[in-house]
Amino acid sequence: MPRIVCVAGARPNFMKVKPVMDALEERHADVVLVHTGQHYDAAMNDVFFQDLGLRPPDRHLGTGSGSHAEQTARVMTAFEPLVAELAPDAVVVVGDVTSTLACALVAAKAGVTVAHVEAGLRSRDWGMPEEVNRVVTDRLSDLLFAPSPDAIDNLRAEGYHDDQLHLAGNVMIDTLYANLDRALESDVLHRHGLTPGAYGLATLHRPANVDDAGTLGSLLQALAEVARDLPLVLPVHPRTAARLEEVGLPDGIRLLPPAGYLDFIALQASARLVLTDSGGVQEETSALGVPCLTLRDSTERPITLTEGTNILVGRDPERIVTTARQVLAGPNAKRMPDLWDGRAGQRIADALLAHLTAGGRLRPTDERGAARGTTATV
Ligand code: UD1
Ligand code: UDP
Repeated sequence: MPRIVCVAGARPNFMKVKPVMDALEERHADVVLVHTGQHYDAAMNDVFFQDLGLRPPDRHLGTGSGSHAEQTARVMTAFEPLVAELAPDAVVVVGDVTSTLACALVAAKAGVTVAHVEAGLRSRDWGMPEEVNRVVTDRLSDLLFAPSPDAIDNLRAEGYHDDQLHLAGNVMIDTLYANLDRALESDVLHRHGLTPGAYGLATLHRPANVDDAGTLGSLLQALAEVARDLPLVLPVHPRTAARLEEVGLPDGIRLLPPAGYLDFIALQASARLVLTDSGGVQEETSALGVPCLTLRDSTERPITLTEGTNILVGRDPERIVTTARQVLAGPNAKRMPDLWDGRAGQRIADALLAHLTAGGRLRPTDERGAARGTTATV
């Protein structure tokens, strides 16, 4: 029975790790859930354990907030002795947050098989902390589980071998399907006096959008202009809350606390339009068939543009408003990428366990780097 450590630390990790853990446990793996403590507020953390039925973490590293270096170092320092104590056969990391990178780095140096779920996504914006985390985590990983074919193409172009790559599908959509019926029973619309199809939902938390008061102010003005046609609600991430006090809030936008998972899915499902800079929300709106405007200059999830409902609209206020009006004037069209079918976690568990059963590492550690380096196709 292989022992597999699954790592989660921040809001978007919880819905990604759950289906992988469930599938591994169904196959009788000894799963240890390690929470790094990157997110800790009840609204950023506890509510997800309740809503998703995620069991309490087996170990909690309690690392909390800090600069990138501080947080990375704290997670690594706490995770290293735990890996030595638990001696896992594999460490599974998900997504692209600081905890993902820090734990992958510890596990790789400890000689433990690293599996990265949501591998291969690339925004090609090196200014995003998540892009650094994605590229480095993939490089440290033995097994790379990609959500979509574009991610496989990125990894092949970077020289990864086909025997490391698995087109697994999207674990976030596994969780969406598993919880959609319960989410639709939420009374969140009623609590906030919202009518289905008659409001817009916004989220903003990317540092490039919210850390600078001028940029945040201009995005909020664009949202306020959209709100003249469609009332908007904005559940506020703590990073953004801190800046909003400085910037102020224009009329027409209603702030809400960060929403729990079920409430937020319900808010997305009944929204006429979503405006966001979130990664996961681009995917969930596509799966729900709700139009999404992404207020960024790049996306690491291009499949949501070509096979979903997402439009990359950038940060120019005029373009945001014009595009929102065009979308509001047109019909919704639901399209869905292949393998976003609710079974990604199952495919990941099968591939990881088959890999471990076959003897673990694909090739000796000292050969992996050289092998990757010689097969680059670009
Ligand atoms: C992190 C991830 C980002 C992800 C986001 C999801 C990194 C580099 N970034 O960004 O990819 O999209 O989570 O929500 O890992 N804070 C609280 N309470 C909490 C957590 C954070 O008040 O429970 C505040 C703290 O002031 C903290 C700040 O938010 O300094 C930023 O938190 P941090 O985890 O560093 O980054 P996020 O912006 O949340
Ligand atoms: N989410 C939530 N409440 C909110 C905002 C987002 O439950 O107020 C969920 C959302 O449905 C998705 C995930 O959090 O499942 C996305 O996380 P986030 O936007 O924080 O991070 P990103 O995906 O950008 O890394």
